[in-house]
Amino acid sequence: MGDALTQQNHIEKVDALFASIASRYDLVNDVQSVGFHRLWKRNMARSVDLGQAEQALDICCGTGDLVFRLAKHGGKVTGVDINAPMLEVAKQRLAKRNCEKVHLCQADALRLPFDDAQFDVVTIAYGLRNLADYEAGLVEIYRVLKPGGRLAILDFGKPPLRMVRALYYQYLKWALPVFGWLFCGSASAYGYILDSLERYPAQNGVRAMLSGIGFSSVDVTNIMLGTMSLHVARR
Ligand SMILES: C[S@@+](CC[C@H](N)C(=O)[O-])C[C@H]1O[C@@H](n2cnc3c(N)ncnc32)[C@H](O)[C@@H]1O
Repeated sequence: MGDALTQQNHIEKVDALFASIASRYDLVNDVQSVGFHRLWKRNMARSVDLGQAEQALDICCGTGDLVFRLAKHGGKVTGVDINAPMLEVAKQRLAKRNCEKVHLCQADALRLPFDDAQFDVVTIAYGLRNLADYEAGLVEIYRVLKPGGRLAILDFGKPPLRMVRALYYQYLKWALPVFGWLFCGSASAYGYILDSLERYPAQNGVRAMLSGIGFSSVDVTNIMLGTMSLHVARR
């Protein structure tokens, strides 16, 4: 997405969308994935294996699922998100846990307020697809990762099998808006997932971008027939 105005419009649209669903976001996640997103996030956290003395950054942290998961076994974790209501839910969860290893801040993934080479690990779950410029987001991640640092990206995927893809797109087109309407009073908020996925380069496109930027050891795992995907790479 090219010019600054288009990017700003996109950010405002995504921001309004997440503000409208923040309070029910976790519930809908459980419903639409039948709880599987917990397993995928657990595997994602394992894939980066955050050490006790290491620092991680979770971008587009939303309500904090991954932040808390990483902090459970590893070192300090910073969660950033652009959306105040999503972060507010994360802050409420943090208050209940009283975990000193976790820090939350509001920031744009395309302009991270961190030094170069600051983090050992960067994660982004269901976030990259929402950015106005995927490549700029990945370049920013590359900048804040230490040389040798690990990156994991979890997101919706495009199933390689045509039949699976067709069924999956029907599920995203019809079932998700119903969940959005039932639980958040907004069908369009969840209808947006299919729109964003159509534009997203997914498994192969993201792999190519990562390699092009200079990430190494780029590995892609198809989850549940490629309906989800996990990219793991090193700076
Ligand atoms: C689908 S949610 C994912 C939340 C969490 N990572 C999870 O897996 O449950 C996407 C999040 O990305 C955030 N987001 C979208 N665009 C962003 C941007 N440019 N910078 C930072 N966060 C952004 C949204 O506010 C939202 O909280």
